[in-house]
Amino acid sequence: MTSSFEDLVLVAGGTGGVGQLVVGKLLERGFRVRVLTRNAAKATKMFDNRVEVAVGDIRSSNTLPAAMLNVTHIICCTGTTAFPSSRWEFDSEPNLIEWVQLFFDPKYSISRAKNSPIKTDAEGVSNLVAAAPENLRRFVFVSSCGILRKYEFPWKLLNAYGVLDAKQKGEEAIIGSGLAYTIIRPGRLIDGPYTSYDLNTLLKAKTGGKFGVVLGKGDTLQGDASRIDVAAACVESILYPSSEGQVFEIVNQGTRPPVIDWDNLFSQLTSD
Ligand SMILES: NC(=O)c1ccc[n+]([C@@H]2O[C@H](COP(=O)([O-])OP(=O)(O)OC[C@H]3O[C@@H](n4cnc5c(N)ncnc54)[C@H](OP(=O)(O)O)[C@@H]3O)[C@@H](O)[C@H]2O)c1
Repeated sequence: MTSSFEDLVLVAGGTGGVGQLVVGKLLERGFRVRVLTRNAAKATKMFDNRVEVAVGDIRSSNTLPAAMLNVTHIICCTGTTAFPSSRWEFDSEPNLIEWVQLFFDPKYSISRAKNSPIKTDAEGVSNLVAAAPENLRRFVFVSSCGILRKYEFPWKLLNAYGVLDAKQKGEEAIIGSGLAYTIIRPGRLIDGPYTSYDLNTLLKAKTGGKFGVVLGKGDTLQGDASRIDVAAACVESILYPSSEGQVFEIVNQGTRPPVIDWDNLFSQLTSD
């Protein structure tokens, strides 16, 4: 499967861990790429002028239309942290006592944050969907495992500040939009680039490229998901019609075959 020279993929969150790998894979596959970023200088330097750069913030609808010109596909890998952190962009720099309160009082932290999950994963993704061209060929969204299990441990803990609620709202906006879509729900992210603030990042955890790729439906899978394979799933899904309209989980398990057969993995979802 190959790209056509008319294809132009907008990658929202292209400077993030999964996003950087998505951009790399798209370029490798011959796609034209436009990165939607809040920081043009960062993206230009990161991709060595090999991509178009559009400045935009998914929280601000008015920054999005200019980024959409001639876009044929959107891959959205934006996100913030599940728990309060500086990425939540508090209205003012919290002092030590305020940080304690932010951690123990979700309502308080959400009310003070400008880039909490509800702002990015729910409202931001909805804004991106609303700005997407009507003739878009595919909207690919990186969501999360646990959405259908958010009242069970450990997902309940992960959802303490509403990240799974927000991802679910993002998913609903996409499904309700009438656009062609693929929704990918990774397990706990592993492998670099280590850009997020979580345990696997602290440990610089790696799969060593040893494990196979397992896709599932109905949110029953458990385990880690390599950012490398999540990014590959995003790119491969725009190449295979069998992934259209699919919502699936992805984790790494079992022995890795010499080549990942994405066509077969997506087709199995359809036949389930
Ligand atoms: N960590 C996990 O275990 C886990 C598990 C399942 C799913 N996920 C999801 O997987 C996805 C990718 O994770 P990751 O670790 O690659 O993420 P990441 O490195 O934290 O990257 C997040 C990206 O989102 C962008 N962004 C944040 N707020 C934005 C806004 N308001 N407007 C525009 N862009 C914004 C960031 O851009 P800037 O450079 O401007 O900050 C960055 O490019 C995320 O959606 C995450 O929720 C994570």
